[in-house]
Amino acid sequence: MRIAASLSVAVLGFASLIAAQAPTAPKVPAAKAAAAPAVAQTPPMGWNSWNFFFEKVTDKNIRDSADQIVASGMKDAGYIYVNIDDTWEGQRDANGVLRTNAKFPDMKALADYVHSKGLKIGIYSGPGPKTCAGYEGSLGHEEQDARMYAEWGIDYLKYDLCSFIPDVMMKQAPNDKAAQMKLMIAAYDKMDKALKATGRPIVFSLCQYGWDAVWEWAPSVGGNLWRTTGDIQPNWDRIYAILSQQSGLEKYARPGHWNDPDMLEVGNGKLSLEENRTHFSMWAMLAAPLLAGNDLPNMKPEIKAILTNRDVIAIDQDKLGRQAAHIYSDGEVEVWTRPLAGGAMAIAVMNAGDNRYSTHPFHLNLRRLGLADTQTGKDLWTGKAVELTDNMPLELASHDVLLVRVEKPVFAGKGAESAPAAAKPAVAK
Ligand code: GLA
Repeated sequence: MRIAASLSVAVLGFASLIAAQAPTAPKVPAAKAAAAPAVAQTPPMGWNSWNFFFEKVTDKNIRDSADQIVASGMKDAGYIYVNIDDTWEGQRDANGVLRTNAKFPDMKALADYVHSKGLKIGIYSGPGPKTCAGYEGSLGHEEQDARMYAEWGIDYLKYDLCSFIPDVMMKQAPNDKAAQMKLMIAAYDKMDKALKATGRPIVFSLCQYGWDAVWEWAPSVGGNLWRTTGDIQPNWDRIYAILSQQSGLEKYARPGHWNDPDMLEVGNGKLSLEENRTHFSMWAMLAAPLLAGNDLPNMKPEIKAILTNRDVIAIDQDKLGRQAAHIYSDGEVEVWTRPLAGGAMAIAVMNAGDNRYSTHPFHLNLRRLGLADTQTGKDLWTGKAVELTDNMPLELASHDVLLVRVEKPVFAGKGAESAPAAAKPAVAK
């Protein structure tokens, strides 16, 4: 953990350096960006070990979690990837082959076990000499590692920048931000090519904390998803801060390529029921990967009910693949909309305020959503039909959400305020 802490400090220091220099991303060659990936046609769903187990995760935790994904009904609801995060790595042998450490005695057997449950398995590495927790990274062994993952039957790789920053970027190109960025992009490209060369479909998850407008170039290096932020934590302030950073990124999300506001904290920390529900609802609105990060064998029924809400999952997994846009705020109330396949629409009204009834006297403005005065839909948390009328008063508890699916939205005719950004065709750069 001491190594992890010092790496984090190095990374954070570098983050502010990058932020201060406001880099411009290079243009992505159109032909390369347009290549249709076979994986992640909807945002990946599953579970990852980091948010609950951190560096303590073991082979047994992974097996138990896979068992619970099946037993809890999460698999049936769409959770497929069981992802081992950092700290599985041991040392390299004389041939450079990376061995697992004692917590993971036999990775191939573990992968076979997870596959035997009808699930897929993910793993973690990084382009630097060390991972974020100070374990062995893939630098100089990319092809060898990719081949090993394929032999094990790995289906998903999270590739985390971390020590590549101080040990490669800053050493090889000190004070040259553009050259550092080229090194980073080349490192992701290298692993993408190594993965593709295996012939196995492997979801490629970029983790570099949302720097350097990653959403503009990640698809060109095969990124199926890319982190848009630093690490999530199981508290409302962090979750809300991350949510607020997602506005404007909606034009980059599309089938095969997703913004990743980090893994779910549903069921972790001291999040209230409302906060868990809102976190899940908004990640679904964002077309975010839904990677649960909680203690599955000890999951409370109300947490299971949130994670397996089929209607909310259907918003996340909607085939159109369009991410929600933040249309307007009124005080501490935010209104987001997401266009769905077949002309449907999801509307989320969220109370970001800290006072229990601070939405009072909020009135929903359907005209600002480009909609006519009356809409019928389904409240996805009560499961009941709901009628939305223009200017209707809404009271929401602190950090709670109203999430409505309108199957046939009635758009406003003449005299309506202009249609919201989310209702216009997506233009991916
Ligand atoms: C970074 C990532 C986390 C996790 C840890 C593991 O902090 O952002 O999601 O993978 O590394 O060390």
